[in-house]
Amino acid sequence: MIHFEAMLTLSAIGGTLALVLLIADRFLCNYGPCTIRVNEEEPFTIQGGGKLLDALYDQKIFIPSACGGQGTCGYCKVRVLEGGGPVLPTELPFLASDEQADGTRLACQIKIKQDIAIRVKEEFLHVQEFQATVARAQLITLDTREIVLALGGDAEIEFRPGQYIQIFVPGTGETTFRAYSIASPPSRKREVELLVRLIPSGLGSTYLHSIQPGDPVTFTGPYGEFIMDESTETELVCVGGGCGMAPMRSILRHLGETTPGRTCSLYFGARTAADAMYLDEFRRLQTEMPNLNVVYALSEPEDSSDWDGATGFIHESVRNHLSDSGKRQLFLCGPPPMIEATMTVLDEKGVPTEDSFYDKF
Ligand SMILES: Cc1cc2nc3c(=O)[nH]c(=O)nc-3n(C[C@H](O)[C@H](O)[C@H](O)COP(=O)(O)OP(=O)(O)OC[C@H]3O[C@@H](n4cnc5c(N)ncnc54)[C@H](O)[C@@H]3O)c2cc1C
Ligand code: FES
Repeated sequence: MIHFEAMLTLSAIGGTLALVLLIADRFLCNYGPCTIRVNEEEPFTIQGGGKLLDALYDQKIFIPSACGGQGTCGYCKVRVLEGGGPVLPTELPFLASDEQADGTRLACQIKIKQDIAIRVKEEFLHVQEFQATVARAQLITLDTREIVLALGGDAEIEFRPGQYIQIFVPGTGETTFRAYSIASPPSRKREVELLVRLIPSGLGSTYLHSIQPGDPVTFTGPYGEFIMDESTETELVCVGGGCGMAPMRSILRHLGETTPGRTCSLYFGARTAADAMYLDEFRRLQTEMPNLNVVYALSEPEDSSDWDGATGFIHESVRNHLSDSGKRQLFLCGPPPMIEATMTVLDEKGVPTEDSFYDKF
């Protein structure tokens, strides 16, 4: 009992101290004007005290920040050349030892207290902000909504299949973004199509499930590292689960439009037949793409009595059907356990790590 009371007292003292420090930092620390230099761009000056990620956003420098600055995605990496202060413990899980050595930091964790010079990937300086309106939206499974955003004015978006955008989530009291993969092919430059799964109480997905045709939406993009091997000798293999379908659709629709004879595969894991989205669409695409192999597998087939396709987890289908040799490029997208299990299979099949790309969500 005494032990419990001591713990309680210590926690209360710790909590109070943290609060005092927070209030002192908020109201007493005046960092004054600070200058930020990004690559070889003209430096800009802001009032210190805010986050580097927000300062860059205000200057329309849109670096990837899939978790919206919560410090949980590790996407917002920049190289700090001067200023920036010590690395925080929250950053360490995302920084490899060579990154720690070369000054790589998470922009959302850096508080601006002095002049800073940073280097970002050149491509981030070309990311744009778009104003769009909802053109169409429909539920395609119980919890997944297909949404088409039409770009305003005469704006066009240039992107590679497999890339994503970041949607601005209004009404949160701060600058909040969430990442969503583009499901439409790059030939459609005046709109982007998304597939959004509703996460209970989730800020971004609840917003995207509530918007209606005609509503305005702001987003930045495109982002993403996937670069498709254009050589028709290379077999392109997409492995997806849930909303991981979105970038797969973009990639396969793009191949259907540009190189329909290309050897490619889609492995898609769903729980039940009701979650097996776009199966009919891909079966139709197979009539135009003779070398497209489509495998859907249900992990909970018990309630899908009409199902005559594969069952089990999708990585098992990959193990059963993926060729053991030849040049293959893989793009994986879906929940972390699916990606990890599939990576193990790819290792068994001798696929070099540089030939597999993934987005976990
Ligand atoms: C590169 C990239 C591409 C993405 N593409 C898509 C896409 O095409 N379609 C899509 O629907 N999502 C996609 N996501 C995920 C998306 O960015 C959001 O993380 C997701 O919509 C949840 O955000 P939220 O604001 O609704 O939930 P939050 O407000 O962030 O979270 C609310 C609560 O739900 C929990 N939670 C968050 N995500 C999940 C989850 N997946 N399952 C269960 N609980 C969760 C959180 O821990 C928290 O407790 C992508 C993510 C990345 C990094
Ligand atoms: S870690 Fe996600 S935005 Fe910084």
